[in-house]
Amino acid sequence: MFAVYAQSFSSDNPLDGLVVGERPDPEVPAGWTRVQVKAASLNHHDVWSLRGVGLREEQLPMILGCDAAGLDEDGNEVVVHAVISDPAWTGDETLDPRRSLLSERHQGTFADTVVVPRANVVPKPASLSFEEAACLPTAWLTAYRMLFTRGGLKAGDSVLVQGAGGGVATACIILARAAGLRVLATSRDEAKRARALEIGAHEVFESGARLPIKVDAVMETVGRATWSHSIRALRPGGAIVISGTTSGPKLDDAELTRIFVLQLSVVGSTMGTRAELASLVQLLDATGARPLVDRTLPMTEAREGFAAMAAGDVFGKIVFTR
Ligand SMILES: NC(=O)c1ccc[n+]([C@@H]2O[C@H](COP(=O)([O-])OP(=O)(O)OC[C@H]3O[C@@H](n4cnc5c(N)ncnc54)[C@H](OP(=O)(O)O)[C@@H]3O)[C@@H](O)[C@H]2O)c1
Repeated sequence: MFAVYAQSFSSDNPLDGLVVGERPDPEVPAGWTRVQVKAASLNHHDVWSLRGVGLREEQLPMILGCDAAGLDEDGNEVVVHAVISDPAWTGDETLDPRRSLLSERHQGTFADTVVVPRANVVPKPASLSFEEAACLPTAWLTAYRMLFTRGGLKAGDSVLVQGAGGGVATACIILARAAGLRVLATSRDEAKRARALEIGAHEVFESGARLPIKVDAVMETVGRATWSHSIRALRPGGAIVISGTTSGPKLDDAELTRIFVLQLSVVGSTMGTRAELASLVQLLDATGARPLVDRTLPMTEAREGFAAMAAGDVFGKIVFTR
């Protein structure tokens, strides 16, 4: 079958190991199902994979991609949940120490078909296109859990979203606005700040700028470059919710004094559960909020999407169609 996969790793030139080609048709284990991929979306995770993060040499070649929407074996329109937990695990899948994401242990979604446990598909409402639905399983689900489950935010609360251009960040802005929050956002780039206003931020600021208010929570995916600013943006008792470190995980100053004096919470968040994915789908269906798609490319032109993401030239999600 057609597939986009990692053949080798390179930390400096991740696209060197990317192949757009053919892989064998997958076997379907008992209890698993085959999904015909109609659309899949790119995440920074896929670039990390090409850099060798989270994958070992002996796992190559590995089909990339965590996110997909398509047709199950009965022809139903579905969204794929990317978190694969141990069959014996019950409860919150993200807490299973043996969990993996598609493309880490099991072949990913940038292919004609992806094979997943039967429990890993969620119905796609007709109101969402395959392209929109394909944005949800990683970036949007992560944003949903950060805001509402781990952040505990509700209508009327205030939130700062750092690095407005990213897939998770744009999802945070759109979801927070749809849920009735006051939304502040930062970006290094003036054009991205203007776009952030268009998609729902109430106010935008240059990265690191002084803010007019102290917020209830900060959604942090940038890491080192924005950490201090995030901590300084919080009201006493506020929370920083972190799910990524695009600019690096090593901090110049962890702001420990401020954290205990102001009794701040530092909350980690990763992906989301199947139930949260179903709630997210329902939220979009009910509110009309939609994922922001930066560009849609045929999967055969995946390299162009990877290059844009590796260069940071993205606002919203990059979607591949089949
Ligand atoms: N834990 C999870 O479950 C999970 C799920 C999804 C993603 N992630 C992680 O979350 C992070 C975000 O991923 P993504 O795909 O949404 O977006 P991304 O392409 O990694 O970009 C995020 C944003 O980071 C900002 N940024 C990058 N370098 C920066 C720097 N040096 N200084 C200031 N800002 C900088 C940029 O914002 P501006 O250009 O607007 O300033 C960019 O738009 C990644 O590290 C990813 O691995 C984790």
